[in-house]
Amino acid sequence: MRDNPSNPYPQQQKQTHKRSFKEDCRRVNERPKLLRVLAGEPLSPPPIWIMRQAGRYLPEYRKTRKQVGSFLDLCFTPELAADVTLQPVKRFDFDAAILFSDILVVAHALGQHVSFEEGQGPLLEKLGDRLGSLDRSDLTVKLAPVFETVRLVRRTLGSDKALIGFCGAPWTVATYMIAGRGTAEQLPARQLALEDPHLLQQLIDTLVEASASYLLGQIEAGADVVKIFDSWAGVLDERGFERWAVEPVRAIVERVRAVSPKTPIIAFPRGAGARVADYVHVTKVDAVALDWMMPMRLARRLVPEPVALQGNLDPLRVVAGGRALDEGVDAILSAMRGRAHIFNLGHGITPDTPLANVARLVERVRATRDL
Ligand code: CP3
Repeated sequence: MRDNPSNPYPQQQKQTHKRSFKEDCRRVNERPKLLRVLAGEPLSPPPIWIMRQAGRYLPEYRKTRKQVGSFLDLCFTPELAADVTLQPVKRFDFDAAILFSDILVVAHALGQHVSFEEGQGPLLEKLGDRLGSLDRSDLTVKLAPVFETVRLVRRTLGSDKALIGFCGAPWTVATYMIAGRGTAEQLPARQLALEDPHLLQQLIDTLVEASASYLLGQIEAGADVVKIFDSWAGVLDERGFERWAVEPVRAIVERVRAVSPKTPIIAFPRGAGARVADYVHVTKVDAVALDWMMPMRLARRLVPEPVALQGNLDPLRVVAGGRALDEGVDAILSAMRGRAHIFNLGHGITPDTPLANVARLVERVRATRDL
């Protein structure tokens, strides 16, 4: 597309001209399927990638992981992080790569100590009232290695594949920053929301600005799409959901669109249930990712076109394989027929998932010829 076909090429270069024109046509056809669906176009078979596709279920990931000391070292070593980002795409030919990083690098960049202990998940420094006055002045400097990873991946990734950047939604990141670890129903954060909403608001406001500039840094470095993970949106009650889940994501979308209006935005408000309708209406995201508890036919009725739907196979069906897997896949494909849909799991793939089942999943989705 960079070549200008109207250029008067000298005779001996005609061949080159023809070839590059053909190449151009092919490139147009190779526009990543993910981007076509995010523009509202239903495709059969739908594009497929899976949440947490770069991770411990892959032997090549475990090998790379052993070469570095800590998980954050891996996130902040661009060559290795880029390698790990590409591993699942190479193995399974997914339609998209998702940047290898973590939602908690933002907490780290805001000055909170974060570590990931084997078998324990994330552990964060307790900050108390200091949560309300975090300094984000050198955020983009601290996160520069992540932007470099995006640059490296975009250089290697095929033009038919989309690169997804991401951040955690302010509420989900805040739940870890407040509790200092993962908790079952996010009691510490919910308690703070009720007992000291002013302090939580200060933290959320900082996270809105930080997340928006973090996403814009990724987009500038070459991310084609961004996704906002709100894995703990569902634990909030009605008023809490509006204030802590919907409003901050709306504000991030507004800030990202002001600078990069064409970059599609996917949100994952896990556990939103029927609230997904208002969520999409207010946040104005281009696509919504659904957890496996959400009936896809209901999501389809609640969320108006051209908003795309992503999801929502129960990750346990991929662990189980066989008929459990096939039936789950077929039910989703059938519910999404004719609708802009990105095939995905309803949450992250688990480390015990057999590789053969992931291959079977991709094969089954790609074998569909509904339209
Ligand atoms: O392919 C990918 O998606 C890789 C990039 C990625 C990771 N985490 C790598 C990771 C992404 C998109 C995330 C998102 C993330 N991180 C979320 C939102 C999505 C979701 O699953 O709900 C959340 C809540 C986190 C926070 C987090 N990071 C937890 C709770 C844990 C420990 C539990 C777990 O899943 O392992 C992490 C660690 C983490 N993040 C690992 C990976 C590959 C495992 C750590 C390791 O390899 O040592």
